[in-house]
Amino acid sequence: MGYAKLLICLLVSYVSFVVAQDRSTAVVKAAFRNASIPEDLHINFNPNFLLEVTFPQPGRRSVPVTAGVQLPRNQTVGPPHFAIRGDSGLELGQHFVVATVDPDAPTPQDPTSAQIRHFLGSNFILTPGALVGERPLNNLTVPLSNWLQPTPPAGSDAHRYVFLLFRQPRDFSNQTLVTSTTSVANFNISSFAAATHLGNPIAGTFIRVAPDPCEFIERLRCLN
Ligand SMILES: *[C@@H]1O[C@H](CO)[C@@H](O)[C@H](O)[C@H]1NC(C)=O
Ligand SMILES: *[C@@H]1O[C@H](CO)[C@@H](O)[C@H](O)[C@H]1NC(C)=O
Ligand SMILES: *[C@@H]1O[C@H](CO)[C@@H](O)[C@H](O)[C@H]1NC(C)=O
Ligand SMILES: *[C@@H]1O[C@H](CO)[C@@H](O)[C@H](O)[C@H]1NC(C)=O
Ligand SMILES: *[C@@H]1O[C@H](CO)[C@@H](O)[C@H](O)[C@H]1NC(C)=O
Repeated sequence: MGYAKLLICLLVSYVSFVVAQDRSTAVVKAAFRNASIPEDLHINFNPNFLLEVTFPQPGRRSVPVTAGVQLPRNQTVGPPHFAIRGDSGLELGQHFVVATVDPDAPTPQDPTSAQIRHFLGSNFILTPGALVGERPLNNLTVPLSNWLQPTPPAGSDAHRYVFLLFRQPRDFSNQTLVTSTTSVANFNISSFAAATHLGNPIAGTFIRVAPDPCEFIERLRCLN
């Protein structure tokens, strides 16, 4: 009887674990759709995996990202760490590209300088990872665009910062569209992906960050 109970317990927790994993990809996709990200970025977003993004915090626990979460700006200093969850169909020799863009600059209502490129890194590889199913991504080279902390201007609504993971084609290191001197403004991830043969993203997530509550001009209003 005891063993049967234990077996059922294990089975139930295994099933709910699997369901939670499956549902999460669907939840991320739904969150992207709800936030109008596929149409605003002109991408097809049908993720096969979960992209786990975590922001290290000095002297505190790292902050994990769930799709669409709003983070206080001071938790987004970064650079963030990346991992993939769900490992079927991933080869250990595969290289990956991670891109982060803000489609809401300077404001979501009038995004005239969008997209801002907040990160572009290539040559990410899977490491075996401490947790089953979670594979940390390590970069073998310096990023093409270093992590740029979200800084929405005072008075703006929160911006969306979208993280996308792509399989890296063999000839990606030839690309010259983005170099260390290319402006981060007026970037277009879908035209960049088309030009460099990245294909559709295989995973992604996003955060929202609002302007610091008491910055500069806002300070007077905040003190009232
Ligand atoms: C959908 O988006 C709205 C904002 O546009 C947000 O308030 C709401 O929480 C989102 N719902 C889900 C399920 O993500
Ligand atoms: C971030 O800012 C909030 C106030 O907006 C403050 O309460 C919190 O301690 C700050 N966190 C860090 C890590 O500085
Ligand atoms: C990986 O990227 C970080 C910044 O995001 C950089 O500091 C580091 O040097 C890179 N690693 C290698 C091996 O280039
Ligand atoms: C990258 O370089 C290789 C070898 O030099 C070449 O065969 C390939 O066509 C190049 N790809 C692009 C996208 O420029
Ligand atoms: C970005 O590129 C896509 C084509 O990949 C195009 O449809 C779209 O209009 C471009 N967006 C902007 C803001 O230029």
